[in-house]
Amino acid sequence: MGAAMAEEKRAHAMMFPFPCSGHINPTLKLAELLHSRGVHVTFVNTEHNHERLLRTGGARLAGRDGFRFESVPDGLDDADRAAPDKTVRLYLSLRRSCGPPLVDLARRLGEQEGVPPVTCVVLSGLASFVLGVAEELRVPSFVIWGTSAVGFVCTLRLRQLTQRGYTPLKDESYLTNGYLDTPIDWIAGMPAVRLGDISSFVRTVEPNGFGLRVEEEEANSCARAQGLILNTFDELESDVLGALRDEFPRVYTIGPLAAAMHRRVDHGASGLSLWEEDAACMAWLDAQPVAGSVLYVSFGSLAVLSLDQLAEFAWGLAASNRPFLWVVRPGLVAGDRGMEALPADFLAETKGRRFIAEWCAQEQVLRHRAVGGFLTHSGWNSTTESIWAGVPMICAPGFADQYINSRYVCGEWGVGLRLDEQLRREQVAAHIEELMGGGERGEEMRRRAAEWKARAEAATAPGGSAYENLDKLVEELRLEVP
Ligand code: UDX
Repeated sequence: MGAAMAEEKRAHAMMFPFPCSGHINPTLKLAELLHSRGVHVTFVNTEHNHERLLRTGGARLAGRDGFRFESVPDGLDDADRAAPDKTVRLYLSLRRSCGPPLVDLARRLGEQEGVPPVTCVVLSGLASFVLGVAEELRVPSFVIWGTSAVGFVCTLRLRQLTQRGYTPLKDESYLTNGYLDTPIDWIAGMPAVRLGDISSFVRTVEPNGFGLRVEEEEANSCARAQGLILNTFDELESDVLGALRDEFPRVYTIGPLAAAMHRRVDHGASGLSLWEEDAACMAWLDAQPVAGSVLYVSFGSLAVLSLDQLAEFAWGLAASNRPFLWVVRPGLVAGDRGMEALPADFLAETKGRRFIAEWCAQEQVLRHRAVGGFLTHSGWNSTTESIWAGVPMICAPGFADQYINSRYVCGEWGVGLRLDEQLRREQVAAHIEELMGGGERGEEMRRRAAEWKARAEAATAPGGSAYENLDKLVEELRLEVP
């Protein structure tokens, strides 16, 4: 009886991430952290991802007391999934069809023996329709927005950029005529930055460009939620967080999530992934004789490189003469291609000093003693994992928040070098030399990276800002239990 009462009084978070890796991973980490603090968790996937996720590690989580996976249909058919605009289709389909099944699911869960009623809903950015689910269930909602605080603020400000006439661009020539260098110096909490660095979504000539409109609407809709959860820590983004908190009173900065997991969840492993991790790359790293000698190269779960871009990276790596571990996931190369698109002569030339993997345990790779640099697309998860590992970066941004992340990595935090948008193999090789070689600039970046690593560790340690904020968030969830 006592136990049943306690169960009924337990906070129960129903969590729904927008169904792509960049959203699933941080949401799942948050789910594990909440569960480790005693919150009952129902993590909802789309049916399409569900099996894949369970196959690649979800089973480890699924059997635990107070942690369950559920799934709802995403409403897409095979033609939608094969379409070039599949993410847009997914976004629209979820909004159209996923609300009622989530409401039903929450109600069904509440009727099950031994399961506490759903007391709050947690969603990721781009899934704002779930705010309506929470409103219908009359429970509070919390959004985990998967970018940096500065990335979030830039997305909010897309609205003002349009109102002030900066966007959309007048015509295509504005992409290359220097207009994107226009300084934007009026965003509270931020230094002057280039217009082009605010977000990839400013690069549109369409008055109602899907990315431009949807992103800012999604970010601004977070005002309907009870709280905003960010995978960052106060020390990393103090100015912009100060300004953001004037607008959003409840911002929970609980990152780097990878570090928080490591400290607070017993297995400390990375989240689920949609691809199998290649374990052999760890053995290859173990066999590297020199600490800090390997460049890790990865462009995350979404980026698609043209064949030209692939060639510039490949030949830059070849010219660098340094060992590298490159993740070439299926679909990284235009035309839905992966490793098979790598030039044969590049593979022959670099044989013996490289490992190509389809997917790897990135957090472990970055923390391996052999790794000394990260050539990255500057996705936010990758950036925080690199900061926590103390690894300096070469940034090759291409989409969404990646431009502002690289601006901060290279400018504000001093731990990276940025490649020009027009990729050149000579610059790729030169940046690798500058980052990994013994020069003064490389030394300085390594020193700064070590400082940020220590601050990230401190923030997620007991008494640290992120550690305390997670506890505050859990407390807030408990207060909501009727
Ligand atoms: C997306 C957006 O593209 C990005 O701009 C935004 O900041 C977050 O959402 P994605 O492009 O996938 O994310 O990049 P990133 O945020 O870096 O996330 C990739 C994740 O995949 C990381 O957690 C990384 O550890 C993981 N990963 C990547 C692996 O586990 N193994 C790999 O081999 C490569």
